[in-house]
Amino acid sequence: MNHSEHPLRLGLIGFGCVGQGFYDIIEQQPGLGLAVARIAVKSPNKPRTLPPDRFTYHADDLLHDPTLDVLVEVIDDAAEAFRLVSTALRQGRRVVTANKAMLARHLPELVQLEQEFGGTLLYEAAVCGSIPVVRTLDSYFSHEPLRAVRGIFNGSSNYVLTRMSEAGSDYATALAEAQVQGFAETDPLLDMGAFDPRSKAVILAAHAYGAFLNPDEVLNLGIEAVGAADIAYAAARGQKVKVVASVERLPNGRVAALVTPQLLGPESPLYAVEQEFNGIIIDAEYAGAQFLAGRGAGGHPTGSAVLADVLALRRGHRYGYARRAAAPAAQLTEGLELDAYVSHPDAGVLREVLTWLELPPDALHPDSAHPYATGPVALQQLWAWRKELRAAGIFVARRGAVRTVADAVPAHAEVAAVA
Ligand SMILES: NC(=O)c1ccc[n+]([C@@H]2O[C@H](COP(=O)([O-])OP(=O)(O)OC[C@H]3O[C@@H](n4cnc5c(N)ncnc54)[C@H](OP(=O)(O)O)[C@@H]3O)[C@@H](O)[C@H]2O)c1
Repeated sequence: MNHSEHPLRLGLIGFGCVGQGFYDIIEQQPGLGLAVARIAVKSPNKPRTLPPDRFTYHADDLLHDPTLDVLVEVIDDAAEAFRLVSTALRQGRRVVTANKAMLARHLPELVQLEQEFGGTLLYEAAVCGSIPVVRTLDSYFSHEPLRAVRGIFNGSSNYVLTRMSEAGSDYATALAEAQVQGFAETDPLLDMGAFDPRSKAVILAAHAYGAFLNPDEVLNLGIEAVGAADIAYAAARGQKVKVVASVERLPNGRVAALVTPQLLGPESPLYAVEQEFNGIIIDAEYAGAQFLAGRGAGGHPTGSAVLADVLALRRGHRYGYARRAAAPAAQLTEGLELDAYVSHPDAGVLREVLTWLELPPDALHPDSAHPYATGPVALQQLWAWRKELRAAGIFVARRGAVRTVADAVPAHAEVAAVA
């Protein structure tokens, strides 16, 4: 087929980092047979790289335009993104989105709309930017049992940790650097508090296990309280601190999902994932471990994933969600524990935290320069005290895999059914 005779007409909603990056890629490859026919943005007063007559300021204009073959939603407002994407799916349209926060919250409903009205929704760009992991899990590994999918899903926090470890920057300086480089969200909590990688873990759980998790039930611990002493503690043991998101099958067949800082040694491929890069290990039953690494953010890398989705839509591709019919229940905190490293500059504060986490007093290493404690901690305790831990500036990292404890109780969260 000669694409230039019948170019696919695209409606682009959002012309920021990702929208502009996607547009650039298409402009540089005229032979693709794609035409950005209409662009919607929010503010009429912003300087643009294209003439004003290329833009509309009402995204609904694109929804009402039946000549558009595909809608690409890349705006920074999750609630509005859900309204636009769900409306487009109700019209039976083909849609691409990069909005992980919106997807993590609404995936069951969006899949339902896809099925009911015959549209298609693809979202490779929403998880780890340029790394092709959603389609890999959904298509290539659709029927192979997976032991785990784990990785570094947030480039901003990884950049901060890299700068602290390599340049000796303190946390505030490293965060400011990330913001200047354009890696960090304006609200640092999303990245540094590990909310962003939690959304990505939730999306991957749907494809890796057919489990549609509620993001609010997934434990996420961030790095806002990490200090130079924690980085040095890891380095002294030949390790690095990394924020690792994991979705994994437990020995009892249930699915666990979790995002925490983790102390990792060079035996893990994630140890070498530095700066704003992302890395993912897919641990498959028969294939063994596969490792994917690449740029997790940025206009062109993310635009590349959007482009891959648009081209896949043209070929009629849709996600299969092959495992959802036999999705296991989720076991997110109850009956699980991890080997924890807990630190705070004040040993007195840390002593109280030991009681919250039900660690014995001798778990404390009260070195006046760097008080820390180590020992097994139930995820239930971390869950119950998560707000207090954040407010008190306690840094918590795991030192290994999540374990089921002997007296494991039944799962508290059942997987949302998707018809
Ligand atoms: N940046 C990345 O590297 C990256 C990577 C993966 C995924 N994502 C996701 O991609 C999406 C876009 O991110 P971004 O970094 O490109 O954001 P951004 O640079 O802040 O740009 C957002 C764009 O959306 C437009 N917009 C906001 N509300 C709108 C509305 N109601 N109607 C029409 N346009 C609207 C803005 O219009 P104005 O130009 O008028 O302000 C702007 O052009 C987000 O969901 C983000 O999480 C981003």
